[in-house]
Amino acid sequence: MLRVPARRLLACTGSRTVSLPQDSGPRHYCSCPLGARDQVPDGRAYFTTPIFYVNAAPHIGHLYSALLADALCRHRLLRVPGAAATRFSTGTDEHGLKIQQAAAAMGLAPAELCDRVSAQFQQLFQEAGIASTDFIRTTEGRHRVAVQHFWEVLRTRGLLYKGLYEGWYCASDECFLPEAKVTRQQGPAGEACPVSLESGHPVSWTREENYIFRLSQFREPLLRWLRDDPHAISPETFHNMVLQWLEEELPDLSVSRRSSQLHWGIPVPGDNSQTIYVWLDALVNYLTVIGYPDATFKSWWPATSHVIGKDILKFHAIYWPALLMGAGMSPPRRIYVHSHWTVCGQKMSKSLGNVVDPRTCLDRYTVDGFRYFLLRQGVPNWDCDYYDEKVVKLLDSELADALGGLLNRCTAKRINPFGIYPAFSPACFPSQPGAVGPSVRAQAEDYALVRAVSSLPKQVADYYDNFQIYKALEAVSSCVRQTNGFVQRHAPWKLTWERPADAPWLGTVLHVAMECLRVFGTLLQPVTPTLADTLLSRLGVSATERGLGDLSFLSRFHGHPCPFEGRRLGPETGLLFPRLDQSRAWVVKAHRT
Ligand code: ME8
Ligand code: MG
Repeated sequence: MLRVPARRLLACTGSRTVSLPQDSGPRHYCSCPLGARDQVPDGRAYFTTPIFYVNAAPHIGHLYSALLADALCRHRLLRVPGAAATRFSTGTDEHGLKIQQAAAAMGLAPAELCDRVSAQFQQLFQEAGIASTDFIRTTEGRHRVAVQHFWEVLRTRGLLYKGLYEGWYCASDECFLPEAKVTRQQGPAGEACPVSLESGHPVSWTREENYIFRLSQFREPLLRWLRDDPHAISPETFHNMVLQWLEEELPDLSVSRRSSQLHWGIPVPGDNSQTIYVWLDALVNYLTVIGYPDATFKSWWPATSHVIGKDILKFHAIYWPALLMGAGMSPPRRIYVHSHWTVCGQKMSKSLGNVVDPRTCLDRYTVDGFRYFLLRQGVPNWDCDYYDEKVVKLLDSELADALGGLLNRCTAKRINPFGIYPAFSPACFPSQPGAVGPSVRAQAEDYALVRAVSSLPKQVADYYDNFQIYKALEAVSSCVRQTNGFVQRHAPWKLTWERPADAPWLGTVLHVAMECLRVFGTLLQPVTPTLADTLLSRLGVSATERGLGDLSFLSRFHGHPCPFEGRRLGPETGLLFPRLDQSRAWVVKAHRT
């Protein structure tokens, strides 16, 4: 056994003396070309959320994490149809000291707490339309098999050794901390309590013999990975943050705890006196889901996109890729990082009593309304503040008034008495701007609208690629406004179907607006699936015509036939999104008192 005093361990700069098998660890990764690393044979994609701790009920931050992954996954499915090529997993993180202590404090067996809270996450995600293909609980047998196998691979590659760990441990964050990351805070009786500088959670001094992972060996390979692949972590600020961390020392990592301290976890194979560190356990969930250690997992790895919160960046961008490289695998393809939601300017916490219950929000603002709000207002780069009035204002203006109003303007009986997708007249709206002719009615701004909506799908796709879903929604919203401007400008309600001079132009105005709506509805599917379905069904767009591949916006303008022209509209379904400040004002008020 190697004795490593904590100070040495934490200051370890990674002596490069460990002997590794020929094809193992960092060297294996280094020999792997980037292209090969990026692609699995048939273009599969695997999206994940973090797995959630079951010490407390879900809050809106957790839902936000899951929604980001859900929207990314749904958008990909619109681009690349065929559910078989896409996988999306979420789940619950059920082991560790944090859960063990939470259960003890509640007088519950850990398994009971896990069952209860895991069910709450599953129910929330089902209600919120999170279309995951997999849900994993780390207490499942298949996961124990995967974790223990992974452990054995690391061990046989010479990457684990036994040493004495001495230092701080933060149970809330489930992490080891060097002295420099610990500060003192005044406790209830005025005493100085050591807490984590980063999270403010209490830490306690730990001195025990553990298994230790040779993390320090991976500093160079990690740097190389991130330098070679500038898009590995988005947004860029987080990519740079990790590069900066890697400029500093990278100490070896303790990856087990004494079972007498931590019994709620997966035992170290062959050594029941030690329990595997919960973060190693948790991270391997991403492999368990895709069948690891069965070789079939290779058809999904590393085509993986992890969505995570900023507080768990180090675990996903340093520990996890290093563990993977250690086990002879590639790092995940992409790591998407988001920031946190605060509430009325304050950090959300149980002790402050300001935790926002996502199920209340889904009830109050509707599933699609709340999904839209979180994804439209949540900016991954920085923390966002939540308050009820903000939701009402945003949804009323963008979903009820702008989008719902636009649909109503095109489909209401008064203006569209035949209930059809009207015909487009090239004579009224020639494809050449500035063309002259007796019937020409289109103006310069109308061409600008056509240009804007034509480029919208590509723009939205680029935003999704850059993990800027909020910008994608902003772009859609801006085009909705522009389309309302178009309708306003031409005031179709002043035209009549009976007058031959009006009819072709009236039809054209409605046709153009409906084509725009069809694009908006299609692009909104990943964020507001039910509302988009209502909108597209109302326009008469069938289920097979909703992908991004065959969107072909305003094909008549380009001289091609339009399959929708002349088609009957779908059934009338009332308001697309009822205003909240009228219909629900009392609910909001009642909630606040
Ligand atoms: O960290 N706003 O689980 P967790 C936005 N089990 N997101 C928030 C948030 C907030 N206010 N608070 C938390 C864990 N989150 C581990 C993950 S993965 C192998 C193991 C996010 O339940 C947080 O950033 O504490 C994280 O991404 C997720 O919720 C789960 O947090
Ligand atoms: Mg947390």
